Formats: sequence, structure tokens, C-alpha cells
Amino acid sequence: MSAEPTVPADLDTARRRHDALARRVRDARYRYYVLDDAPITDAEFDRLYRELEELEAAHPALASPTSPTRQVGAPPTTAFAEVTHPQPMLSLDNAFSREELEAWAERIRKGLAVAAGAADDEEAASPDDAPRVRFVCERKVDGVAIDLVYRDGVLTSAATRGDGRVGEDVTAQILTVDDVPYRLDVADPPGLLEVRGEVYYPLEAFAEMNAERIEAGEAAFKNPRNAASGALRQKDPTVTARRPLAVWCHGVGAVEGVSFTTHHQALGYLADAGLPVDPRTEVVDDVDAVWELIERWTADRHEVAFEIDGVVVKVDDLAQREALGFTSRAPRWAIAFKMPPVEEATKLLAIEVNVGRTGKATPFAILQPVLVAGVTITTTTLHNEAQVRAKDVRVGDTVMVRRAGDVIPEVVGPVLDRRPADAVPWSMPDHCPFCGEPLHRPEGEAHHFCENVDCPNRLLGSLEHLASRTALDIEGLGEETVRLLVDEGLVSDLADVFRLAEHRDRLLALPTWGPKRVDNLLAGIEAARTRPLDRVLVALNIRHLGPTTARLLAREFGSLAAIRSADPDDIAAIDGIGPVIAAAVHAWFATPRNAELVDELAALGVTAGVADTPASTSGLLDGWRLVLTGSLDGWTRPQLTAALEDRGATVTSAVSSRTSAVIAGSDPGAKLTRAEELGVPVVDEAGLEGLLRDGELPS
Ligand code: IVH
Repeated sequence: MSAEPTVPADLDTARRRHDALARRVRDARYRYYVLDDAPITDAEFDRLYRELEELEAAHPALASPTSPTRQVGAPPTTAFAEVTHPQPMLSLDNAFSREELEAWAERIRKGLAVAAGAADDEEAASPDDAPRVRFVCERKVDGVAIDLVYRDGVLTSAATRGDGRVGEDVTAQILTVDDVPYRLDVADPPGLLEVRGEVYYPLEAFAEMNAERIEAGEAAFKNPRNAASGALRQKDPTVTARRPLAVWCHGVGAVEGVSFTTHHQALGYLADAGLPVDPRTEVVDDVDAVWELIERWTADRHEVAFEIDGVVVKVDDLAQREALGFTSRAPRWAIAFKMPPVEEATKLLAIEVNVGRTGKATPFAILQPVLVAGVTITTTTLHNEAQVRAKDVRVGDTVMVRRAGDVIPEVVGPVLDRRPADAVPWSMPDHCPFCGEPLHRPEGEAHHFCENVDCPNRLLGSLEHLASRTALDIEGLGEETVRLLVDEGLVSDLADVFRLAEHRDRLLALPTWGPKRVDNLLAGIEAARTRPLDRVLVALNIRHLGPTTARLLAREFGSLAAIRSADPDDIAAIDGIGPVIAAAVHAWFATPRNAELVDELAALGVTAGVADTPASTSGLLDGWRLVLTGSLDGWTRPQLTAALEDRGATVTSAVSSRTSAVIAGSDPGAKLTRAEELGVPVVDEAGLEGLLRDGELPS
């Protein structure tokens, strides 16, 4: 941590520092608001901004109207029509500690005492003279500020903040957001209602979208705020419509034909009118209670479905607000308490490569251990060579590491100013680090693969997968047992699992293994010999082949032999199977060592019985809007999504009142809470089965 900058006493030195800081702050703002880029982290921005404020406090001559401290956001770009906000959109002052929060509350109390005539100036005012102040606490979602204007109950414009006075017209884009009503649900609509809110990209959906981009070899978005801004500022609103944007409304601007006396009353009105208001918003009586909420929300910020970077604390009483007024850029009656940053800088010590069960080679970062939002991060995946290149991270770089929600920590990018002169771009090694065979990247794939079926690192992953619930479901054959059996030389390929019965004596001789454990394992293996064809297909570790696709293949071809002799066009002709999967299946069976394995399995009595052919399920869920949360045993997200979509359902990322049901597995995210708040039905793992089979919710 660098030492706190000291404010130069002499004006010239201070002015030079001020000019330099102002340039950096303007540049950062322009790139952040206009280019959706983040040249520096929020925390770094806050530090620069703080220093500007301190310089101006010591040298008021520096606080000219063009100083960044007097401006909000950045001027609107020319890509969208301009909208003048009925009331300017201001920013917020920040507090970073309990002391700063208390100092703010103290200023409020004194300011109100002066306004009430109980004291002549703030110096003379004692907090005891002040009237009672109640505070509204709201979670500060990290998104894009939006101004919604309703005239006679109808949305007439939606605009970004722009420079605070004039923003960009994104009405068409906002109308695609589920959460935002076109018409207010009120009996007697007011002539004008200006609503302030924040558009955000829910974290789970953000992670899913980035995963898809990574899979396709495209550059990932740096953070959900960028993704929200990018989605909102699409010229073509149909593109926005495909993004699961959500909104929280947190205030009103200009109003005509309706009036409020408190902020929480205004929020209640918005919620009743059908606008989304964060249900966790609370009104409290004193700073102790504010602090308690800040602590609670900071502690559970990672369990929330969206990214929060702070808590906004506002004076509830609107008459008190009026008395307190504004500075040039922010209201005196509100403050943003900033939570610790979710991004930190650390050193990228090395990039290594792991090889998984299908041979996929995944680069990962070895980091100087760094504490990010309460968790020490030492390694993170870098996904594939294209991502490493897109991020341009190099060994030796100082990199930003980010952790948000349940999302796996990520390296966001390098801090270019701190790049060592000798840092070179990274490339995937030519050979597998585990078996030394060449790594290669198939046409159209973002990933490199080790094609050696006998690669020792692949074997461990393959065996674990073979025994997993979606595959052959062999009880007692977990990660540790697999490693032991391989280390003992009892298993050296998948078929060896079915030869274990011949080695009962050696199993019995294993330390801590008694007859019961051995017999249970062998019974589990025996039962696995008669699993249906689709499960056997899943067990083979074929690239891209999950349970849904395996079922389609099994239903179409009926036997391993038929699939083996099918050509890629026959496979791709199946509805729901694309050319990439078809090519992967064909290539797998065409590999001699795999063909041998299939023969061996057959000889060992693995029958690969025909899959149960379920009754036709197409159209079973037509018109359903479903949301997934948590992990569901036996399913990956894309697989379950595919299975639901096969049946006609639309799977969306954000829960709204239009959601038909939320499917919640273990460790559900905040979508479950949201569903409960909105009264949306929740389906658990047991209910899911019925939903997929009969298209019915459990009663
Ligand atoms: S009130 C005049 N409330 O944070 C008061 N802002 O850092 C204006 N934000 O410009 C803002 N959640 O874009 C307010 N509950 C909340 C908020 C919130 C997020 C954003 C908003 C604001 C920025 C200030």
C-alpha cells in the first residue's frame, strides 16, 4: 500500500498535481462511460478523486467549474439522440470507513440544526439541536444509471446519465427489459414521474455469457457493468432484448401530479406501480443501525445475484433533504459507502497447463497469493490460448484479479504500466506436459487437445467421469479410489474397471480395505454393466457429448455398433446435434485405441442396452419461462437448458413476474430469494423430473 499523498502547500506545485490528476480522472471517465473500458480500477479512481478533492479543499482556487469534481459522468456520445433530463442526475459522495460515515451523519445533524434556526452556523450547532433523522439504506448495485420518464403513466423516455444534464436516448432498448413496465400500474397516473435507477447484468447470466464467449474464442467482458452498458447501448434494440438486463429503481426526480413526504414512501409508490425496487431496502433510525446493515450486506455480498459495490445511505424525510440541499455535483443528504474492491492487483508468476478427461488443455495462472474480497486467490483458469491472447496477460505482469459472487475468480487483464520490459506473449506449449504427445487445436475449436488416449492425466479424469452419476453411476469409485487403483496398477484404462473382479485378492490386500468395501465396489461395477446406451456413451468421455446429446444419439442409432459406423453427416442430421458434436463423435470412434476400448467393453459384458425411449416431450413446455439457479445433480447448466428448450421452454437469466418457475438446485443463488419475493413457483431437483417428463409443476 502506498503512503497517503500529502497535499503540497504551495499553489503552483498543487496546481501541477491537480492538472495531472484531473487529466487522468477525465480520461478514465471518458473511457468508462463512453468506451465501456476501464483503464483503472474503481478503487484507484476513488483514490485519484479523493486526492483531487483534498487539493481543492486546501487550495480553493483549483476548484474551477471545469474541475472533474464539479462534473458528473461524461458527455453523451453522438451515437444516440440526446435527452435532457427533467431534473439533473447528480452523483454521490463516498465514504470508505465508519468514521467517514459518522462524519457525514454529523454534518447532516448540524446542517439540519442550522436550517431549523436552532443555531446560527454549523460550528455553533450541537447535534442535540437537530431534529430526528431517519436513514434509508439501499444496496448500491454496480451497473449503469438510467433515467425513466413516465408521462401520464406511460414510459416516454429512458436515458443514460450522460453528463448529468443530457443523456443518451435508450428508450427502445429499455423497453426490451422485462423488469421495466411500459405503463405504470396505478389507477390515476401522475402527469410526470421521473424515476432513477440502475440497469445491471445479473452475475450468473454474466458468467454464462462469458463462458460462451470463451468457448467460441471471443474476448470475455471484463465485468458485469461493462456488459450491462454494452447491452444497453446497442443501436439495435433486438440485440439488447437477447440480454437478461435487470433494473433496480432507487429514487424519483421531477414529479407532477403526485407528491411524497419521505423517500421510502416514494419507493413504495414505485413498487406498487410495478417498477422494480430492491426489496431489501431498509429504513433505520441511527448510524449504528446503518453500520449494522453495511456489515451484514458486506458479509453476504457474494451470495447476491448481482454485483454490489456499496450501500447508499439517504435521509428519508424529503423536507429535511430540501433543507440540506446540494453541492455542485452531489446531494448533501446522501452518501455512498463503498465496500472493499472486488478487484486487486497481483503478480502473474507462471502460466501452466492442465489436461482434462477429454484431452482438453486448459492454461491456468499461478498467482502471487492475493486477498480479493475476503478470499485468497492463488490460481485461476485462463480457459484457452485465445483468452490469454485477448487479455494479453504475460508471465511477470502485474494483473488485476477479480472475484464477484459465486463466479470463479478471474484474471481481468494486465496493468500495462507495470509490465516488465522482457515480458513476452504467451503461447500454448507444443506438447502435453503429462505425456509429451503433441497438443493441437482442431479447426473451429478455441481449445487445444492432447489426443493421446493413454495420457496419464486424462486417465484419472476419465475414470472419475465414467463412475459419475450421469455416466455409469458406480458407487464407491470416487476420486480417491480412482487414484489409488491407478497408483496400484490395478487400472490403466476404462475397460480395466470391469476386470477388477478378477483381482479381488489384490483389492482385499489394500490397506484399510475390508471385504465389505471390496464387495460393494464390485457389486457397483457389476450393476454398471447393464446401463443403457446413452449412459455408456456419456461414460466414454467423448468431447462435447453430454447426457442430452447422448440420449438423442442412443434414440436414433440404438447401438454402439451403429453409432460407430455412422458418418458425421448421419449424426449431424439428428435434430439437436450440430456439426461440431457430430465431428467429435465420429473422430472418437475413428481413433483405433477407442475402437479397441469399445470392443473390450463389449467383451467384458458391458451391454449398452437401448435407452428407455421416453414419450415424445416436444412442446411439453411451450410458452414456459424458466430460470435456473444452484447446481442440479447430474446436469450441467447447458445440458439442462438444452433439455428444457427441447421441450419448448425459454430459459432466461433474471427472475421477473413473468417467470413461470425457478428451478433451484443445491446452493441456490439470490434468484431463489427473488422468486420467493415475487411469488414465482420454485421447483427442486425432485420436481424437475416431473417437469421434464410431464410438463407439470409438483403439486
Ligand atoms: S442515488 C442524487 N441510489 O451509484 C442521488 N444511486 O456512485 C443519485 N447507484 O449515480 C444516486 N445504486 O448510478 C443511488 N441505491 C442507489 C444506487 C445508486 C447504485 C449508482 C447511481 C449513482 C452512482 C453513484
